[in-house]
Amino acid sequence: MVIMTTTSSPTFLPVLERIAEELERTPGRGRAADYIPALAACDPRTFGMAVAELDGTVYGVGEWRQPFSAQSITKVFTLALDLAREGDELWEHVGREPSGNPFNSLVQLEYENGIPRNPFINAGALVVTDRLQTRTGDAAGELLDFLRAESGNLALDFDQEVAASETAHGDRNAALAHFMASYGNIDNEVPALLDQYFRQCSIAASCADLALATGFLARHGIRADGSRLLSRSQAKQVNAVMLTCGTYDAAGDFAYRVGLPGKSGVGGGIIAVVPGRCTLCVWSPGLDERGNSVAGVAALDRFTTLTGLSVF
Ligand code: DON
Repeated sequence: MVIMTTTSSPTFLPVLERIAEELERTPGRGRAADYIPALAACDPRTFGMAVAELDGTVYGVGEWRQPFSAQSITKVFTLALDLAREGDELWEHVGREPSGNPFNSLVQLEYENGIPRNPFINAGALVVTDRLQTRTGDAAGELLDFLRAESGNLALDFDQEVAASETAHGDRNAALAHFMASYGNIDNEVPALLDQYFRQCSIAASCADLALATGFLARHGIRADGSRLLSRSQAKQVNAVMLTCGTYDAAGDFAYRVGLPGKSGVGGGIIAVVPGRCTLCVWSPGLDERGNSVAGVAALDRFTTLTGLSVF
């Protein structure tokens, strides 16, 4: 089923339909994340993909209207919300280099004095959420309001079951946060920060919602209502960090295959940006060994190959 929300034509719909058909014939789809029990029940073969044009026209194929766990995709939005508030001072507390390590790794933090490599590994995202929490008093609530406004979907919400599941299995994130706190790089009490972070990750949203919410990065910092969230330069910076760090320790392979800024989450979603043109979100819960959606990366690879769109 295809539903249009605004008026411009669904330019890429035939491409999306072709990709969905091709993937239907592809056997391997990876495995759903099982370290968060609430995610383990997802069918790895589920597939949805949406494109949002700059004017808010959105269309898609498969399960593109079905909410799924946004997980680390939310790290892009908290980064943008904090950067908009504090500007470059943020970069004194988190780096912007690829880590080459898994998303939940602790190993670099001690060598690098509690400053995480980038905002998209868990350690870096915890720093960003901590700083947003200090500035707003409710980082997860700020994020939810932003996602609702950009997607136009006021029903978006936290998934209490996923948040509780993460809290119950959150020892590694707690270790990361306490370790960084020992270097003075966390302002808030660790349990309060973890509560914000787990609620942030638990937000359930569809491909349509997330493609629309990413639109400001294709519009060089301009939100859906025409107001500016980020300067043009900051939007470039966020896109650059997505390209180099957005898919964990597979960011090089993602850039090679897809050639777009992208951010994945262990719920099986991936957002991607074609600056000045459109945004995409693809969802398929089967993950590869680095935590990226197998069909999601394949679909974005096919999209840029078939359309010739990429940042290169
Ligand atoms: O921190 C976690 O384990 C999850 N809530 C987020 C995981 C995720 O999507 C991977 N992130 N980079």
